[in-house]
Amino acid sequence: MNRREFFQSTALAGGAIIGSQLLANSNTLAATKGTTPHSGIQAFPRKYEAKPLPFNPEYLKGLSSKLILSHHDNNYAGAVKNLMKVEAEIAKLNSDSLPFVWTALKSSEQTFRNSMVMHELYFENLGGNGKIHGPVEKLITSAWGTTSRFETEFKASGLGIGGGTGWIVLSLDKRTSQPIISCLGALNQFAANAVPLLLMDVYEHAYAIDYGAGIKDYIEAFFSNINWEIVNKRLEAPPTMAG
Ligand SMILES: [Fe+2]
Repeated sequence: MNRREFFQSTALAGGAIIGSQLLANSNTLAATKGTTPHSGIQAFPRKYEAKPLPFNPEYLKGLSSKLILSHHDNNYAGAVKNLMKVEAEIAKLNSDSLPFVWTALKSSEQTFRNSMVMHELYFENLGGNGKIHGPVEKLITSAWGTTSRFETEFKASGLGIGGGTGWIVLSLDKRTSQPIISCLGALNQFAANAVPLLLMDVYEHAYAIDYGAGIKDYIEAFFSNINWEIVNKRLEAPPTMAG
C-alpha cells in the first residue's frame, strides 16, 4: 500500500477508529492458505497482509506522523513480510533437514508472528484521548487500588528499558482473572495463558525519531493517546495471540 492509499484508507475525521475487528485477530482471519500442496493438515506458506493504521497519525498528540509511519511501514510491515519468508523457508524443510535449522526457523517464525500481532494490537490501542474509563478502569482499580498506581508501575517498567528492547503489556491472566503487567525483553516472551489488553512498544524505533533517547517523554505521549475504548472491548471480547 502506498502513502496515498494509506491516507485514503485512514481519512476519517478525528482519528476515528475503523473498528476493533480490523486489527484484533485480523490476521487469523486474513491469513489465507497458500496453493502449495502439503501433506500436513495445513497448507504452507500462508499469506498475510500488513493492515493500515486504524487512525490518522496526524491526530496523535506528541507522536509525529513520521515516527508512526516509519514504525508501521518499516518495523510492522517488515515483520509481516519476514513471517511469510520464514514460513516459506520452513515449508521447504523435511524430515532430513537438520534439527537446528528447524529450531532456528521456528524461533524466527514465533518472533515475527508475535511482532505482527503485537504491533497490530499496539497501533489499535493508540488513537484515543488517553482518558481511562469503563470496565477496564474498574479492573485496574480493583487490582492496583488507583489508576495512578497502575500508571506508575506500567510507565516505570517501560522507563527501565530505555536504550534496550522490549514491550510492556497489560494483560488478563485467564487462570486468576486478574490483570498483570508484563515486561517483555523480546517479542517471543508473551505471558502464558494471558489475554493482551494494552501494549506499549518500547523498542527505540517506537520513539527515537521524535525523542531520541528520551523514552520518558514517549511514554507520556503514549499514555495521552491510549484508546481505552478498545481496551474495554478487548476485555469483553479478548483478542488472541494466534496469528
Ligand atoms: Fe515496534
